[in-house]
Amino acid sequence: MRTFEVAVVGTGSVAELHARDMASLGGRVRVVAAAEVDADRLADFGRRWDVPRLYPDLESLLAKERPDVVDLCTPPGLHRSQAIACLRRDLTVLCEKPPALSLAELDEIATVERSSRGHFATVFQHRFGSGARALRRLVGDPRLGRPTVAVCNTLWFRPDTYFEVPWRGSWDLEGGGPTMGHGVHQLDLMLSVLGDWLEVVAVATRRARPTRTEDLSAAVVTFADGTVATVVNSLLSPRETSYLRFDFEYATVELEHLYGYDDTAWTVTAAPGHSEVLTAWEEGPASVPSGHAAQLSAVLDALEAGTVPPVPLPVARVTLELVAATYASAFTGARIRRGDIVPGSPFYTSMCGPRAPWETRARPRPPVADQLSSAVGGDL
Ligand SMILES: NC(=O)c1ccc[n+]([C@@H]2O[C@H](COP(=O)([O-])OP(=O)(O)OC[C@H]3O[C@@H](n4cnc5c(N)ncnc54)[C@H](O)[C@@H]3O)[C@@H](O)[C@H]2O)c1
Repeated sequence: MRTFEVAVVGTGSVAELHARDMASLGGRVRVVAAAEVDADRLADFGRRWDVPRLYPDLESLLAKERPDVVDLCTPPGLHRSQAIACLRRDLTVLCEKPPALSLAELDEIATVERSSRGHFATVFQHRFGSGARALRRLVGDPRLGRPTVAVCNTLWFRPDTYFEVPWRGSWDLEGGGPTMGHGVHQLDLMLSVLGDWLEVVAVATRRARPTRTEDLSAAVVTFADGTVATVVNSLLSPRETSYLRFDFEYATVELEHLYGYDDTAWTVTAAPGHSEVLTAWEEGPASVPSGHAAQLSAVLDALEAGTVPPVPLPVARVTLELVAATYASAFTGARIRRGDIVPGSPFYTSMCGPRAPWETRARPRPPVADQLSSAVGGDL
């Protein structure tokens, strides 16, 4: 068995989960280096996870290291430039969600990826639990029938203090509110099951939190086959839940969890006279919880097999395009179809377009790099 070498960039909250889950993979992967602008945090991370080589920034790491994977756990406003720096050196990148601040940034990464020997994969870990795999495997099976209607709710609670972290709540550093940063997990999982979305009608509003982005959005999404889904993304919901419901002709499939699920979080209810669908469900994969470990395993499998690691850019783009279209619909009042947001559209370069309706003046837009240096005290 080959041991893959990973370099972690940004050693904050999510990097801890990555390190913990990598350590759980039975020696398949080892963190050989880390880069972080906060020296104390870097030293702690290095000690806790026994990381041999530590760097104050990505550039100095890239000057010395050739890891199999660079694992970007930095704030969203850094993903584009850091991913491009790695891809230009032919390194493979695993990047935390959201993969970029806008479709324009994502397309820039894709352009560089095309001439790189490295790949770019986005962390959307809820695709990888056995429940999601079982459901995707059943789609198209006559025992389940066609999908008709779906519900996709991310009802989370974030107090005002959550927004004290400098990059949170800003269009130019975080990219958006719960539509972009939180509900995107459920949205991505729903799209992995239902396939091509066609159009969206949405509202987004800032009801309660000290943020420049929305803290609540709701959307109606129509799919190419006519399936209709309602989507709610909230940071204002004291009883938190992540809830997905898929009604097919012969069964309702539900998932209720919060930040990750196992098989027990899924329920399947057969329509009267269609109990064979329950047998079909039991035939599917089992016992793999969603989470970073599940996606990391899939990424390592791909690297071992010499295939493209999941989730590749074109797939992540479908999800990011629905996020952009949700904002575009909410802020213009228009019905937005897939493919409407192209270069030249204000929603191509920023999720809020010219500005969110609650912002009275046009936003000053200093280069993202400058803002991040002052917000997090580091270079790119
Ligand atoms: N997949 C998930 O379930 C999940 C969960 C939480 C966060 N995330 C995502 O992970 C990313 C990081 O979130 P977080 O909560 O860990 O944030 P965080 O603020 O806790 O950690 C980010 C770290 O990056 C460091 N950093 C900043 N600039 C840097 C630079 N130029 N070079 C190196 N390091 C730098 C910061 O000092 C900080 O330690 C975000 O994109 C977020 O959306 C994903």
